[in-house]
Amino acid sequence: MQATIEPASGPLRGSVRVPSDKSISHRAVLFSALAEGTSSLRAVLDAHDVRSTIAAVQALGARLDVSPGAEGLTLAVHGWGERGPIAPGTPIDCGNSGTTARLLMGVLAGYPVRCTLVGDESLSRRPMRRVTEPLSRMGARFELSGLGTLPAVVTGGGLVGCEHVLPVASAQVKSALLLAGLRAHGTTRVTEPAPSRDHTERMLPAFGAAVTREPPVTVSVLGPQSLSAAQVTVPADPSSAAFLVVAALLVPGSEIVLRDVSLNPTRTGFLAVLERMGADFEVCDVRASGAEEVGDLVVRYTERLCGTEVTPDEVPALIDEVPILAIAAATAEGVTRFRAVGELRVKESDRFDAIVTSLAAMGADAHADDDDLVVEGPSRLQPALLSSRGDHRLAMAFAVAGLVAEGPVRIDGFESVGVSYPGFLDDVRALLSG
Ligand code: S3P
Repeated sequence: MQATIEPASGPLRGSVRVPSDKSISHRAVLFSALAEGTSSLRAVLDAHDVRSTIAAVQALGARLDVSPGAEGLTLAVHGWGERGPIAPGTPIDCGNSGTTARLLMGVLAGYPVRCTLVGDESLSRRPMRRVTEPLSRMGARFELSGLGTLPAVVTGGGLVGCEHVLPVASAQVKSALLLAGLRAHGTTRVTEPAPSRDHTERMLPAFGAAVTREPPVTVSVLGPQSLSAAQVTVPADPSSAAFLVVAALLVPGSEIVLRDVSLNPTRTGFLAVLERMGADFEVCDVRASGAEEVGDLVVRYTERLCGTEVTPDEVPALIDEVPILAIAAATAEGVTRFRAVGELRVKESDRFDAIVTSLAAMGADAHADDDDLVVEGPSRLQPALLSSRGDHRLAMAFAVAGLVAEGPVRIDGFESVGVSYPGFLDDVRALLSG
């Protein structure tokens, strides 16, 4: 589907709760499936990626009662607990979801089942050895394509704990190893080069697991341990909020409130960068929500943003926000350099290439300097025909560009927003008429 985004004819005004956090939703569903008893989950994201995780745990024998509501899905999850999962007769389709595929590998590694994981075209291009190699050292067996991609055949069971030092900061890999570690004998310890999102470490204790954190970059579990049912309410997703934050900063006269957004410090790196760029926003009413912190974001139009340098240690806490930050950088005065963002090449699409090519198509100045992404502003964005490359975050970033371009921006493959934010355009329209 092609979407045409016209330049905003007026400001964005009003208040929105963006959809629930994708990372937290995946984990709540998966941990409930592993647990003994019935977990109650509220405000779980209702979007394609989390639906992939829900279908996967159902295929593996968890039973779910699902009821949709205004803030997402309410789920009662009857976990497989001590019985363990059943081997499904057909491959599990992880769709577009890297989190589903990689976390499931860690789950399946712990049980004596044989199971095949497949994904869509994009997921079938993404690297899986980063997770299968350390899991193999713990005793799991994997067959991957020759390129180290899906489809994957996983045969689990008989794990022993291991010490892992990851070459790349990755919450998906870390989480897979910790989940496998719960089923392994001995200690599984994971150290990353920089802190990645920590939802797994925060949520596991609610399910009765003992997790040892050695800040800033090491976490361990002593296995075997089993999980028991829990209650989780999922806050709004800061990564989804980021698109509306930048839209409000760039569209003259805007002032919006984004309610109930997760303020987990491993996710809010984009706010620190926007603050340095001079953005006018406030974080209000900060409160606890289970193991996470949430608050409301008040964002106002900011006439002049300026460029900044994003350092390598900041990148894991904003990796999913680089596409939308790059749009802000293109309109900002001066140079913005995102250092060491090579991981963008192996996301849902090659986001590095997509940002450079698409900004150029809109007349902006962006280039690669090895693994650094350099954007030079300020540019007046021009009308263009862009491809989402089937990538939800590119589709939404380009839509925000369209709101401030000199003419319409057309985006092919816009339906990809269904992966994380199916009602994105409805929320933008509501704020435009607010
Ligand atoms: C995620 C971790 C990040 C992020 C992805 C979701 C998660 O990936 O980019 O969108 O839920 O754990 P990496 O684990 O590759 O850093």
